[in-house]
Amino acid sequence: MDEVTVKVRESGPYLVRGKVTITDCDGNRYVVEGDNVALCRCGGSRTKPFCDGSHRENGFCATERATLVNERA
Ligand code: FES
Repeated sequence: MDEVTVKVRESGPYLVRGKVTITDCDGNRYVVEGDNVALCRCGGSRTKPFCDGSHRENGFCATERATLVNERA
């Protein structure tokens, strides 16, 4: 299985790289084209759970950093 990575974009979406399956709360699958997907973190997307670029216009600001508790090389 290939590694899946999630990158938190500053004041932007979660960028998921790798083969993943995304389902809604009812278990319905979303069709994901390719191995890269951006998931909305601002709450403003009209195509949730996917980012539609609205974060650039709605003033979303998320510059905080989590405390690293278990870093892998
Ligand atoms: S993070 Fe891009 S629209 Fe919400």
